[in-house]
This record gives sequence, structure tokens and C-alpha cells, in this order.
Amino acid sequence: MIDSLLRYNTNAPRYTSYPPANLFQEAKSKEQVQKLWLDSNVLLPETLSFYFHIPFCVKRCLFCGCTSDTLHDEFFRNAYFEALHQEMNEKLSWINKERKISQIHFGGGTPTSVPLVELEKILCHLKENFEFQENAEVAIEINPATLTGEMLKNLAQMGFNRVSYGVQDFDLEILKNIGRDSSLIAIPELLSLTRELGFKGINIDLVYGLPGQTEEGFAKTIEKAIEASSDRIALFSYAHVPWMRPEQKKLEAFAIPEAKTKMALFLNAREAFLKAGYLAVGMDHFVKPSDALANASLSGMLHRNFQGYCTRETTGQVYAFGASAISQFDNAYVQNIHNSAEYVKRIQNGQMTEIRAQELSHEQRVLRNVIERLMCNNRLKLSDNEKVVVSEGWKRLLALESEGLLNQLNENEIVATELGSLVIRYLAMQLDPLMQTQKREGVFSQTI
Ligand SMILES: C[S@@+](CC[C@H](N)C(=O)[O-])C[C@H]1O[C@@H](n2cnc3c(N)ncnc32)[C@H](O)[C@@H]1O
Ligand code: SF4
Repeated sequence: MIDSLLRYNTNAPRYTSYPPANLFQEAKSKEQVQKLWLDSNVLLPETLSFYFHIPFCVKRCLFCGCTSDTLHDEFFRNAYFEALHQEMNEKLSWINKERKISQIHFGGGTPTSVPLVELEKILCHLKENFEFQENAEVAIEINPATLTGEMLKNLAQMGFNRVSYGVQDFDLEILKNIGRDSSLIAIPELLSLTRELGFKGINIDLVYGLPGQTEEGFAKTIEKAIEASSDRIALFSYAHVPWMRPEQKKLEAFAIPEAKTKMALFLNAREAFLKAGYLAVGMDHFVKPSDALANASLSGMLHRNFQGYCTRETTGQVYAFGASAISQFDNAYVQNIHNSAEYVKRIQNGQMTEIRAQELSHEQRVLRNVIERLMCNNRLKLSDNEKVVVSEGWKRLLALESEGLLNQLNENEIVATELGSLVIRYLAMQLDPLMQTQKREGVFSQTI
């Protein structure tokens, strides 16, 4: 199995968006951005998803691929939140007030590395403008290295009901290699407390392929993850992208698992999670059968965006604020400038913060939907209209049947084999006309 999979190890997009974010077009003007936001009021689904990017961390981990910095000076932090509220003041006025909030996500960075009152002020700002739908999800990403029980209680009181912990590995040696501190509260106790406080869909992130990881050592991490019994486990492939994150070069001093070992780490973990009763969901998630994502996956209602997987009922149009944040509408993406100091400066000077605005053509929307369905469900049934749009890509995809990556069920439907589902990015790439000419090395991470 591993040797077969290695044949498909190539640089490819993760397809969190279509087109991939690093290929978005430049934003033209503030008027263009405003029009896209105004137009989004009539798109479906009509509910509101909000994303807030908190780009601060207590310290930066060497392996990290996220947009964050450790500029923790209070003066700058205050200026950042002031800018964020200013961005909200302007843009919330573009959204129809009758629409309701179904989802809020605070990501980063580490949103809990700032005084929690800053998060509360953002929630209050939203509440002044919009009503919440019943069972709205309010989620936060947390590095447990700096989280106390008191902080978690505060978050619950503020209305947070979903949490994702970056665990990465239970082995302290591995955490040391990647420049990370261990959890302040032992993970099993932390998860119990999180459950007691009423959080649902509790997630832990693990990463395979980190420097120093071995099959033996990672098996122990997986055992501990199963014992800790979170509702969801995200098992990310370490993305080594030193051309984007130069500090990752430092990790090359350690033994970074090669593709073959990396694949073994993933397959062993997958087997253990499935044996323990978790269901495989999407590309890299494992969830308990009782979790909402399990149901969504089984009924073809799984959705994926920059915040991760969610159900189709939860997601609305995504309105994103802060440095690097990407708004995701049914017909466009709009992204703010990455650098947080530059973001603040532009807001203070009344300049536009949006650097990219990708309007989607009919063809791109079809491709986005088709690729998302394939990546979420490991199968794809095309309507006749979709088939017209993806005709060349469909032919490229069908050609993989002879390689054992998929089975064609009828002229409009395929299902990935087990092998194919493990290299689903490779399958998705066949549908993508951009990838037939685009340079991929040094632009996208490796599929394994
Ligand atoms: C914004 S971070 C999570 C929140 C928090 N800052 C933390 O570290 O726990 C999101 C997740 O992305 C994953 N991640 C970060 N850098 C990565 C990389 N280079 N390759 C794969 N996954 C990565 C990690 O699992 C991390 O938990
Ligand atoms: S992994 Fe999390 S804590 Fe570490 S630098 Fe990245 S965002 Fe910050």
C-alpha cells in the first residue's frame, strides 16, 4: 500500500478554496470589495459566518505554517483590536441586519494569548448588530500551553461552545523539537473540564511528519489521543514550506520523516482510530459516530472552508476580519493583507486592507463545488451541466480507474477506492484545469 501511495506524492493545493488562495487575483478597489460584500446579502446560504483572525502567540513554534507573530507589546495589541473594530464598524453596515449568525470562529495565531475581554468585546460588537440563530456555533482555536481552567470557564460564560486544541504530539521531545511547550493542564483532564463546561464537537489537532517522530513513538501519541477521547481528531500532514515560512528551515537539523515513514505514521494512526470506533471524515479528520460531522459526512452534508470542516447547515457566507483573513462568499473570496502591522497602518490611514479579491466565474464555481464534494465525500456524481464544465478534467479523472484509484459507477459517477481516498488531493487535481499548466513545486505543499 505505502509504495503505491508514494507514486502519487506530488505538490498539490489543499483545495480549501477554489482557486487556491495563493492564486487569487489582486483586489482592484475598495468599491469592488464593497460591492462583493453588498452582493453577498442575496446569496445562499443566507446565514452569517464570522471569522476573526487573532494573529498573536505567546511564542512562535518553529513548524507553524499559520499567519501569526509574537509582537505582544500591549500598545500594538490595542492598536490591532482598535483597527479590527474599525473594520467591523465599516463592513458590518454592508450586511443586511435581518440575516442571522449561524457560526463564529476565532482563529490565529492563538486567540487566548490576548486578554479574553478583547474577544468578548468582538462578540458584543456582533450582538449589537445581529441576532444569533438557535444553536449557533461559537468556536475558538486554543494552544493549551497557556490555557488555565479559569480562562476556559470565562470562555464558556462568554458564549463559546466549540473548541479546538492544538496538541500536535503527546511526546514532549517532539514538542521540544518544534519549539512548543506542553499543555498547562494534562490533555485528558483538560478535555474532561471542557466537556463539563458544555463544549460540543471538541477537537484536538495532531500533526504527523514532525521532526523526530517515529512509528513507535507516534503509536504512543495515538494511544493517548484515543484515551483522551475527544469528539474530533484532526490528523494533519506536516506541511514543510520553508519558502513561505523560513523558520521551518531550522527543523531540517532534525530527522524529518521521509514520505515513506510519514505515510506509515498516517496509516497506523488511521487504523488505530478506526479500530477505536472513530469514523474517517474528509481528508484528515476522525470523529466519533455521535458527532455532528459524522452525520454530515454520511449524508453528504459535510462542508469545508478555511476554518476546517463543518456541516452545511452551520455555514453561511463567511465574513472575515483582521490580518490575512479571507471572506468566503458563494461567488467570491476577499483577503486582507497578511502582515498585522501593515493591516493596522492601513486602517489608521484609511487605506484599503484587502489585497486580493477573487470573483468566481460560473466555471470556477462549478469546479469549486465539484472539488469540494469529491474531497468531502470521496465520491462524485456530476449533473449533466457540471459535466459540460469539467469535461476534460472528468476524462483525466476517469483515466485513474486503471490505476486502482477509483471505480466508475456510471457515466456520471465515480467513487474513490481506499487507495484513491488516501491521495484525494491528487484526484482533485485532475479536475482542475489550472494545475495542468501551473508550476506546483515551491508553490504548494506535498500531498504526503
Ligand atoms: C492556528 S493553529 C492552532 C491554534 C493554536 N495556535 C495552537 O497552536 O494550538 C492551527 C493548527 O494548524 C496546524 N498547523 C500549523 N502549522 C502546520 C504545518 N506546518 N503543517 C501542518 N499543520 C500545521 C496545527 O495542528 C495547529 O494546531
Ligand atoms: S502553532 Fe499555534 S501557537 Fe504555534 S506559532 Fe502557530 S499559531 Fe502560534
